[in-house]
Amino acid sequence: MQKILIAAIDKDGGIGKDGYMPWYYPADLKLFMNLTMGNTIVMGRTTFDGMFDREKAPLKGRQNIVITSQAAEYRSRFADKYPLSELCFTDDINCGDVELDKEAKVFYCGGGNVYKQIIDSVDLIYLSRLDESYDCNTFFPQDPQSLGKEFTPYIPTYLTNSFSDKMAGKNPFTFQIYTPKQLIIY
Ligand SMILES: NC(=O)c1ccc[n+]([C@@H]2O[C@H](COP(=O)([O-])OP(=O)(O)OC[C@H]3O[C@@H](n4cnc5c(N)ncnc54)[C@H](OP(=O)(O)O)[C@@H]3O)[C@@H](O)[C@H]2O)c1
Repeated sequence: MQKILIAAIDKDGGIGKDGYMPWYYPADLKLFMNLTMGNTIVMGRTTFDGMFDREKAPLKGRQNIVITSQAAEYRSRFADKYPLSELCFTDDINCGDVELDKEAKVFYCGGGNVYKQIIDSVDLIYLSRLDESYDCNTFFPQDPQSLGKEFTPYIPTYLTNSFSDKMAGKNPFTFQIYTPKQLIIY
Protein backbone atom coordinates (compact mmCIF):
# COMPACT_ATOMS: atom_id res chain seq x y z
CA MET A 1 0.00 0.00 0.00
CA GLN A 2 1.51 3.30 -1.08
CA LYS A 3 1.93 5.93 1.65
CA ILE A 4 1.97 9.51 0.44
CA LEU A 5 2.42 12.77 2.31
CA ILE A 6 0.52 15.64 0.73
CA ALA A 7 0.94 19.28 1.76
CA ALA A 8 0.81 22.85 0.57
CA ILE A 9 3.59 25.03 1.94
CA ASP A 10 4.30 28.73 1.68
CA LYS A 11 7.62 30.46 0.95
CA ASP A 12 8.75 30.01 4.57
CA GLY A 13 7.60 26.40 4.93
CA GLY A 14 4.41 27.55 6.67
CA ILE A 15 1.36 25.29 6.44
CA GLY A 16 -1.23 26.81 8.75
CA LYS A 17 -2.24 29.53 11.14
CA ASP A 18 -4.33 29.13 14.30
CA GLY A 19 -5.76 25.80 13.17
CA TYR A 20 -6.64 26.84 9.64
CA MET A 21 -4.95 27.26 6.27
CA PRO A 22 -4.34 30.98 5.72
CA TRP A 23 -4.80 30.90 1.95
CA TYR A 24 -7.50 29.86 -0.44
CA TYR A 25 -6.54 28.48 -3.83
CA PRO A 26 -9.41 26.67 -5.54
CA ALA A 27 -6.94 25.11 -7.99
CA ASP A 28 -4.92 23.56 -5.18
CA LEU A 29 -8.06 22.28 -3.48
CA LYS A 30 -9.11 20.77 -6.77
CA LEU A 31 -5.71 19.14 -7.17
CA PHE A 32 -5.98 17.74 -3.63
CA MET A 33 -9.43 16.41 -4.39
CA ASN A 34 -8.38 14.78 -7.66
CA LEU A 35 -5.33 13.12 -6.16
CA THR A 36 -7.02 11.82 -3.02
CA MET A 37 -10.48 10.89 -4.33
CA GLY A 38 -11.32 7.22 -3.80
CA ASN A 39 -8.39 6.78 -1.43
CA THR A 40 -7.67 7.04 2.31
CA ILE A 41 -6.78 10.32 3.98
CA VAL A 42 -5.17 10.50 7.41
CA MET A 43 -5.08 13.69 9.43
CA GLY A 44 -4.35 14.97 12.92
CA ARG A 45 -7.19 15.95 15.21
CA THR A 46 -6.48 19.69 14.91
CA THR A 47 -6.67 19.51 11.12
CA PHE A 48 -9.88 17.48 11.37
CA ASP A 49 -11.49 19.98 13.77
CA GLY A 50 -10.69 22.88 11.40
CA MET A 51 -11.90 20.94 8.37
CA PHE A 52 -15.08 19.70 10.02
CA ASP A 53 -15.86 23.20 11.26
CA ARG A 54 -15.67 24.42 7.66
CA GLU A 55 -17.16 21.50 5.73
CA LYS A 56 -19.60 20.17 8.37
CA ALA A 57 -18.76 16.67 7.12
CA PRO A 58 -15.79 14.39 6.41
CA LEU A 59 -14.33 14.78 2.93
CA LYS A 60 -16.55 12.81 0.64
CA GLY A 61 -15.46 9.86 -1.50
CA ARG A 62 -12.54 9.13 0.80
CA GLN A 63 -12.00 7.17 4.01
CA ASN A 64 -11.18 9.90 6.57
CA ILE A 65 -8.96 8.69 9.42
CA VAL A 66 -8.31 11.03 12.34
CA ILE A 67 -5.35 10.52 14.66
CA THR A 68 -6.13 11.52 18.23
CA SER A 69 -5.46 10.49 21.82
CA GLN A 70 -9.16 11.20 22.36
CA ALA A 71 -10.28 8.47 19.94
CA ALA A 72 -12.92 7.07 22.32
CA GLU A 73 -14.52 10.50 22.89
CA TYR A 74 -14.53 11.35 19.20
CA ARG A 75 -15.95 7.93 18.33
CA SER A 76 -18.87 8.43 20.68
CA ARG A 77 -19.42 11.98 19.43
CA PHE A 78 -19.67 10.80 15.83
CA ALA A 79 -21.25 7.40 16.53
CA ASP A 80 -23.96 6.47 14.04
CA LYS A 81 -23.34 9.58 11.92
CA TYR A 82 -20.87 8.07 9.45
CA PRO A 83 -19.82 4.51 8.60
CA LEU A 84 -16.24 3.54 9.49
CA SER A 85 -15.45 3.41 5.80
CA GLU A 86 -16.03 7.21 5.78
CA LEU A 87 -14.78 8.40 9.18
CA CYS A 88 -12.86 6.74 11.98
CA PHE A 89 -10.58 7.70 14.86
CA THR A 90 -7.39 6.06 16.11
CA ASP A 91 -4.41 6.86 18.31
CA ASP A 92 -2.10 4.87 16.02
CA ILE A 93 -0.22 7.02 13.50
CA ASN A 94 0.17 3.87 11.33
CA CYS A 95 -3.57 3.14 11.50
CA GLY A 96 -2.81 -0.44 12.53
CA ASP A 97 -6.23 -0.88 14.15
CA VAL A 98 -8.19 0.51 11.19
CA GLU A 99 -9.61 -1.62 8.42
CA LEU A 100 -8.01 -0.06 5.36
CA ASP A 101 -8.99 -0.53 1.76
CA LYS A 102 -5.95 -2.47 0.52
CA GLU A 103 -6.41 -1.10 -2.99
CA ALA A 104 -6.39 2.52 -1.81
CA LYS A 105 -3.41 4.82 -1.41
CA VAL A 106 -2.95 6.32 2.04
CA PHE A 107 -2.53 10.10 1.97
CA TYR A 108 -1.20 11.74 5.12
CA CYS A 109 -2.65 15.20 4.75
CA GLY A 110 -1.54 17.12 7.82
CA GLY A 111 -1.00 18.92 9.94
CA GLY A 112 2.52 19.69 11.11
CA ASN A 113 2.45 17.27 14.02
CA VAL A 114 1.42 14.35 11.79
CA TYR A 115 3.84 15.28 8.99
CA LYS A 116 6.69 15.27 11.49
CA GLN A 117 5.95 11.73 12.63
CA ILE A 118 5.41 10.26 9.19
CA ILE A 119 7.81 12.10 6.88
CA ASP A 120 10.60 9.53 7.15
CA SER A 121 8.38 6.56 6.33
CA VAL A 122 6.36 7.70 3.32
CA ASP A 123 6.97 6.56 -0.26
CA LEU A 124 6.20 9.90 -1.88
CA ILE A 125 5.75 13.53 -0.94
CA TYR A 126 3.40 15.73 -2.94
CA LEU A 127 4.02 19.39 -2.34
CA SER A 128 2.23 22.46 -3.61
CA ARG A 129 4.70 25.31 -3.19
CA LEU A 130 3.33 28.83 -2.79
CA ASP A 131 5.42 31.83 -3.73
CA GLU A 132 4.29 34.11 -0.90
CA SER A 133 4.58 34.24 2.90
CA TYR A 134 1.38 33.88 4.90
CA ASP A 135 2.41 34.62 8.51
CA CYS A 136 1.91 30.99 9.53
CA ASN A 137 2.39 29.54 13.01
CA THR A 138 2.47 25.87 11.96
CA PHE A 139 5.29 24.68 9.74
CA PHE A 140 6.33 21.78 7.53
CA PRO A 141 8.90 19.75 9.51
CA GLN A 142 11.72 19.82 6.97
CA ASP A 143 13.33 22.01 4.37
CA PRO A 144 11.99 20.71 1.02
CA GLN A 145 15.54 20.90 -0.40
CA SER A 146 16.50 18.02 1.90
CA LEU A 147 13.69 15.72 0.82
CA GLY A 148 15.35 13.80 -1.96
CA LYS A 149 14.89 13.51 -5.67
CA GLU A 150 12.29 15.83 -7.10
CA PHE A 151 9.95 15.25 -10.02
CA THR A 152 7.76 17.89 -11.59
CA PRO A 153 5.03 15.79 -13.11
CA TYR A 154 2.57 16.70 -15.76
CA ILE A 155 -0.53 18.17 -14.16
CA PRO A 156 -3.45 19.23 -16.36
CA THR A 157 -3.47 23.01 -16.73
CA TYR A 158 -7.09 23.24 -15.62
CA LEU A 159 -5.84 22.14 -12.20
CA THR A 160 -2.86 24.47 -11.90
CA ASN A 161 -4.25 27.62 -13.46
CA SER A 162 -7.86 27.84 -12.43
CA PHE A 163 -9.87 30.70 -13.82
CA SER A 164 -10.70 32.14 -10.40
CA ASP A 165 -7.07 32.21 -9.23
CA LYS A 166 -6.05 33.97 -12.44
CA MET A 167 -8.83 36.51 -12.13
CA ALA A 168 -7.83 37.25 -8.55
CA GLY A 169 -4.28 37.95 -9.77
CA LYS A 170 -2.86 35.44 -7.31
CA ASN A 171 0.38 33.60 -7.82
CA PRO A 172 -0.04 30.15 -9.24
CA PHE A 173 1.47 27.43 -7.09
CA THR A 174 4.08 24.94 -8.20
CA PHE A 175 3.29 21.29 -7.74
CA GLN A 176 6.21 18.94 -7.03
CA ILE A 177 6.62 15.28 -6.19
CA TYR A 178 9.53 14.13 -4.04
CA THR A 179 10.64 10.54 -3.82
CA PRO A 180 12.42 10.12 -0.49
CA LYS A 181 12.90 6.40 -1.13
CA GLN A 182 14.00 6.96 -4.72
CA LEU A 183 10.92 5.11 -5.89
CA ILE A 184 10.55 5.03 -9.66
CA ILE A 185 7.07 6.30 -10.47
CA TYR A 186 7.23 7.24 -14.14
N1 LIG B 1 -0.91 23.42 4.27
C1 LIG B 1 -1.34 22.18 4.35
O1 LIG B 1 -1.19 21.37 3.42
C2 LIG B 1 -2.05 21.73 5.60
C3 LIG B 1 -2.64 20.47 5.65
C4 LIG B 1 -3.28 20.10 6.82
C5 LIG B 1 -3.32 20.95 7.90
N2 LIG B 1 -2.74 22.16 7.81
C6 LIG B 1 -2.73 23.08 8.94
O2 LIG B 1 -1.93 22.53 9.98
C7 LIG B 1 -2.40 23.04 11.23
C8 LIG B 1 -2.63 21.89 12.18
O3 LIG B 1 -1.41 21.22 12.41
P1 LIG B 1 -0.95 20.82 13.89
O4 LIG B 1 0.45 20.36 13.81
O5 LIG B 1 -1.28 21.94 14.83
O6 LIG B 1 -1.95 19.64 14.28
P2 LIG B 1 -2.34 18.25 13.57
O7 LIG B 1 -1.12 17.52 13.13
O8 LIG B 1 -3.42 18.47 12.60
O9 LIG B 1 -3.02 17.50 14.81
C9 LIG B 1 -2.30 17.33 16.00
C10 LIG B 1 -3.12 16.43 16.89
O10 LIG B 1 -3.24 15.14 16.31
C11 LIG B 1 -3.24 14.17 17.33
N3 LIG B 1 -2.08 13.30 17.17
C12 LIG B 1 -1.01 13.48 16.35
N4 LIG B 1 -0.16 12.44 16.46
C13 LIG B 1 -0.72 11.58 17.34
C14 LIG B 1 -0.32 10.31 17.86
N5 LIG B 1 0.81 9.70 17.47
N6 LIG B 1 -1.13 9.70 18.77
C15 LIG B 1 -2.29 10.28 19.14
N7 LIG B 1 -2.73 11.50 18.69
C16 LIG B 1 -1.93 12.12 17.81
C17 LIG B 1 -3.23 14.91 18.63
O11 LIG B 1 -4.60 15.14 18.92
P3 LIG B 1 -5.21 15.12 20.41
O12 LIG B 1 -4.78 16.42 21.01
O13 LIG B 1 -6.67 15.02 20.20
O14 LIG B 1 -4.61 13.93 21.08
C18 LIG B 1 -2.55 16.19 18.26
O15 LIG B 1 -2.85 17.26 19.15
C19 LIG B 1 -3.68 23.79 10.92
O16 LIG B 1 -3.41 25.18 10.84
C20 LIG B 1 -4.09 23.26 9.56
O17 LIG B 1 -4.89 24.18 8.82
C21 LIG B 1 -2.11 22.58 6.68
